[in-house]
Formats: sequence, structure tokens, C-alpha cells
Amino acid sequence: MSTLHDLVNPATGQRLRTVASASAEQTDEAIARARQSFLEWREVSPADRARLLRRFAEAVDAHVEELAGLEVANSGHTIGNARWEAGNVRDVLAYYSATPERLFGRQIPVPGGVDVTFKEPLGVIGVIVPWNFPMPIAGWGFAPALAAGNTVVLKPAELTPLTAMRLGELALEAGLPEGVLTVVPGKGSVVGQRFVDNPQVRKICFTGSTEVGKQIMVGAAEQVKRITLELGGKSANIIFDDADLQRAAASAPYGVFDNAGQDCCARSRILVQRGVFDRFMELFEPAVKAVRVLDPAEESAEMGPLISAAHRERVSGYLDDTVEVAFRGSAPQGEGFWMPPTVVLPRDERDRVWREEIFGPVVAVLPFEDEADAVAKANDSDYGLSGSIWTRDVGRALRVARAVESGNLSVNSHSSVRYWTPFGGYKQSGLGRELGPDAPDAFTETKNVFIATDT
Ligand code: TAP
Repeated sequence: MSTLHDLVNPATGQRLRTVASASAEQTDEAIARARQSFLEWREVSPADRARLLRRFAEAVDAHVEELAGLEVANSGHTIGNARWEAGNVRDVLAYYSATPERLFGRQIPVPGGVDVTFKEPLGVIGVIVPWNFPMPIAGWGFAPALAAGNTVVLKPAELTPLTAMRLGELALEAGLPEGVLTVVPGKGSVVGQRFVDNPQVRKICFTGSTEVGKQIMVGAAEQVKRITLELGGKSANIIFDDADLQRAAASAPYGVFDNAGQDCCARSRILVQRGVFDRFMELFEPAVKAVRVLDPAEESAEMGPLISAAHRERVSGYLDDTVEVAFRGSAPQGEGFWMPPTVVLPRDERDRVWREEIFGPVVAVLPFEDEADAVAKANDSDYGLSGSIWTRDVGRALRVARAVESGNLSVNSHSSVRYWTPFGGYKQSGLGRELGPDAPDAFTETKNVFIATDT
């Protein structure tokens, strides 16, 4: 039996809607249907599978405003971000719609016959999504998985299921057969756990906290179930003394406070070369204060509220008496889970605010001495997801980019995610890569077949 769960608008604190959370039995039923549908979906001709994915992309495109509106209300994302996120689902579907006809195997020279490899779909894929980017993260899992001939059961975060539920309906409207993409809203401990335990789910594509990711890895080991993990981060924004300081300072708030800092790629540690530290802080302060923290439905909003009262409590818990706050931006007063952008000065690299993923609008700034010190401080973390390097010296940019242990780095910018380039983490930030040209491979097994020609 499903239970009911209230959703709350984070900008107002008001109840938004009630949704049903699936039980373990309902999850197993959805998995069984997905398994049945897999047997048919894998036989759909590559061109037809591609056409259906393009139709799904078109259906998403026709509903960008509706999906964006749902995300503003359910997740507190700014309307500009939410439109981008819906558009990202469309683009990821369109990109991987080119996969079915291009899922090539190889022909390998062997004596006495012909040797060929096939990329076979795995079966049912369980995609588990966190609340911070409900739409894109769902799409990064389901689009390449479906394109490679798998069926998908998708668990949105309990707090933010609305856009995933709508995407599930749009898939059906676009003509994807029943059971090919099934959205199963519910609790992680119930629905997500069944994805791990039910042997008919052949792979888990998990995005979320490092803590839950480790539990999934342990659970998956029991069945040697395939996993992709996209976990936490504490990324460094490294600013050298030869950088364009104006640009580095003006863009730094957007490298960390986007989505109210609830971003695994947030550059939440800023490292500034000592000689330009004071000048950087002078430029950084007005940039932070200029961030427009507003009702996320307003067109000019650059940052909205945090996801929930409990999460705001957790984030605020980092700002105790021992932490020196350099300056803060502004945020609306009143209802909703608001918090202003906040810049802190840790005493040294051992401080909690420097080491732990806060997942809110808090950034810590420390000086460094030289290139070696910058790399050492950046790498002194269990995480390794993204990061930025600001310098005018191309050689140094490349040296430091190669030396920082992180999956996604940008030079003189804060961009991390393009759907046609690979994305994922080093160390405890994850396992495997999503997006880019190779993502469908992660949803296949390579099968080798030898055919004797000597009779
Ligand atoms: P989690 O608490 O880990 O939740 C993520 C998802 O896992 C949710 O759908 C959750 O369900 C589910 N879950 C919880 N316990 C589970 C279990 N025992 N078995 C299976 N599924 C379970 O993370 P969060 O708080 O939603 O998201 C924040 C974290 O995600 C941050 O650490 C952030 O860095 C990370 N993140 C990483 C990335 C990438 S790409 N690396 C992207 C976004 C976020 P419920 O909703 O019911 O809790």
C-alpha cells in the first residue's frame, strides 16, 4: 500500500500538493513490468527507438514552461535555471537519440574465423535522483540507458518528485511503450532499497550523498550489480595572481551560489594567491552583495531558497561562533527557507567549513603561496568533482588542470556540465562517468562472439 506525502514550496513554506509514495511491493511490481517491457524494447529496431527518443525530446520541448513552473514551485529553483534544466532534458534526449543506430561493436582479427563484439543492453536500470537537480540528473540516467536498449525505473527524491512524474507522462504521450520509463516516487529506504535488492534491476545509476552512495555500493556488491555513482564535492576555485581578478571576483559568486549552493559542483573553497588576496576580497564583496536572492518565480532572480527547513537548519549549523564570517549578501525575510550568500574565513585547512560539503550558500576562502601549494590544498580533500583555475598563463593552466585530482575542471570559467562531454568524480565524488559520447557504453555489456569459418 502506498502512503501519502506532502510536498512543500520552499519559497513560501506552504504545502504544495500531496503525492503517493510507493511501497516495496509496488516497487517490485514496477520492476517486474519494466523487465517484461525490456524484452520488447530491446527488439525495437534502432531507427524506431531513435525516432521515439526524438519524439520524447519534442514532447519535453513543448512543455518546457510547464516543467519549469513545477520545478520553481517544488524545488525553489529560479525560473531561469528551471527553464535551462527542462531544456537540458530535451537536449540530452536528442543527443542520445543518435545512439541506437551507432551502438557499434567491433570486428577483431582472429585465425580460423570471424570475431565480433556486441554491446548488449543490461536489462532494467534503476535511476535514483537527489532533490537538488531533479530534471537534469534524471535525464542523464534515463536517456543513454533507454537509447542503449534498457528499460528504466526512476526514483525521484521524496521532496521533489513532480517534474519526474510529468516526464514519465510525457514519455508515454510521445509513444514510448508502457513500462519502458517508469517513475516510482517514494522513500529512498523503501523504493531505492528495492532497486538495490531486487535482482531484476541490473544496474543502479545513483546521484546523491557520498554516505548513501557507499551504502548502495555495499548493497550492490551482493549481486555484483553494476553501479554508477555521482556523489558529493568540495571543489576548489583557484585564483592565481596573474588572473583577470575583476572577472574572477565577479564570477566567483555564480560558481558557488547557483541553486543556493545546493550543487555538487559548487566551488565552495576559494583559494587566492597571497599577493592578491586582499584585492580579491575587495572585489568579491560587492559581487556577493549583488547576487539577486529573490522569489524564484521572478525573472531576475539569481538565487532562491534552500530546499527545506531541515536543510537550512543543517547548513546554518556550520556557522557557529567559531566561524569568522567575512560578509554576507541579502535574502528575503519571512516565510520560506531563505539564507543569504555567506563568505567565511576558516582558520586553516582543518576547519569543518573548509573540509565538509555544506551544500548551501556558504563559501570559504583561504590564501595560498605558489602553484605547488595551490595544488596541494586543492587536493587535500576526500572529494574530486569539479573546480576552476584562473590564470593568464596557459602553461600553468594546463599543469594545474592535470595536477588537480578532479573529474571536471574549467579554466577562466566555472562551467562544468555540457551534455556532450563526460561528467563524474575522482575519489569519493563518484564512480564512472555520465554524459558525453561514451555514456551509453555504461549501460551495456560487451559480448564477444567467435564464428568458425574453417569447416
Ligand atoms: P541523498 O540523501 O543521498 O539522496 C539521494 C537519493 O537517494 C534520494 O532519492 C534518496 O531518497 C535516495 N536514497 C536515500 N537513502 C537510500 C537508500 N538507502 N537506498 C537507496 N536510495 C536511497 O542525497 P540528497 O540529500 O538528496 O542530495 C544531496 C547530495 O547529492 C549531496 O551530497 C550532493 O553533492 C550530491 N549530488 C551529487 C551530484 C553529482 S552529479 N555528483 C549531483 C547532485 C547531488 P529520499 O528522497 O527518500 O531521501
